[in-house]
Amino acid sequence: MSGFSRTVTCVVPGFSRTVVEVHDACLADATVRDSFPPMIRRLNHPNWGTRVSAAAIEDCTAELEQGAVLFLPELAFDVRWDEKPHFSPTVAAAKNVSFDPSTGRLGGAAVKNVRDAQAETPGSLDSLSAMLGRFSAAAASLVDALFPTYGPRLQRARASFRPAEIAGRQTTWRHDDTRLHIDSFPATPVQGRRILRVFTNVNPDGRSRSWRIGEPFEDVAQRFGGQLRLPLPFSGVMLKAVGITRSRRSAYDALMLQLHDRMKADLEYQTKAPQTAIDFPAGSTWIAFTDRVSHAAMAGQYQLEQTFLLPVDAMEQPERSPLRILERIKKRALV
Ligand code: SIN
Ligand code: FE
Repeated sequence: MSGFSRTVTCVVPGFSRTVVEVHDACLADATVRDSFPPMIRRLNHPNWGTRVSAAAIEDCTAELEQGAVLFLPELAFDVRWDEKPHFSPTVAAAKNVSFDPSTGRLGGAAVKNVRDAQAETPGSLDSLSAMLGRFSAAAASLVDALFPTYGPRLQRARASFRPAEIAGRQTTWRHDDTRLHIDSFPATPVQGRRILRVFTNVNPDGRSRSWRIGEPFEDVAQRFGGQLRLPLPFSGVMLKAVGITRSRRSAYDALMLQLHDRMKADLEYQTKAPQTAIDFPAGSTWIAFTDRVSHAAMAGQYQLEQTFLLPVDAMEQPERSPLRILERIKKRALV
């Protein structure tokens, strides 16, 4: 084992004092593989580049599918000098700026804030879009190199720039990502597809992004599975018809949304569930299936993120997917 763990008491905003395990050495030794739970798998992969030599890349696909967070401590994203104005307090008022790589367009309510904040600098939205476009392409090259078996079945979805400080942000419990949860999209159903995300901490002041990582998905699903109710027939079609969702919300999507909510609403679970605190340093990148890895983002500012969707039958081990796990618990097909 590459390090030791200690148990500390730390204050999780909105909750009573919480005992969180901290793995001190898990970020310290770049050559030794971490093996304690949760699985933080270090990868010394310093470039975004496309395929190096296949033999030079360690295959972490199986571990990723089992719930590991792949941590690439040396993989930073270069922000250009003319992109520095995006790292300002006024832009930071925006929670999330989304980017659609298929159109190059920025989206989200935050764009207005960005536009207002940068009114004096014409072209700055174009520059933000260009930065996100560069990141999106880099993330696509990275996953292409790291997970060659997925190939073209891995679909590139939206990217985002997250300029706001997470700690202390006022929001509803459902939107509060400082609570442990699995990712599930209310408006854009995935119909069983996996949610794979690449995160890069681009904090210009060297500040880490602090996460908590919770118990394995199998345990989460067993704990809450009995409380998850199958949706009424045709409710998924109705939600699409009235414009609440962009496509049909499958039974799987409905159960994953409930699971997300049950986890966040349960304050005892938040404080008592097995969990580990981890700091991702500025200039590092990490990758996880966030529909499976229970996570909470506690503190940090300025992050880039790219989402990919993967059909379950493109996985090396489809039985590890939340879809198949929930289907086993519910004893029926969910998509
Ligand atoms: C989340 O997906 O819960 C937020 C992750 C982050 O912004 O660090
Ligand atoms: Fe999340």
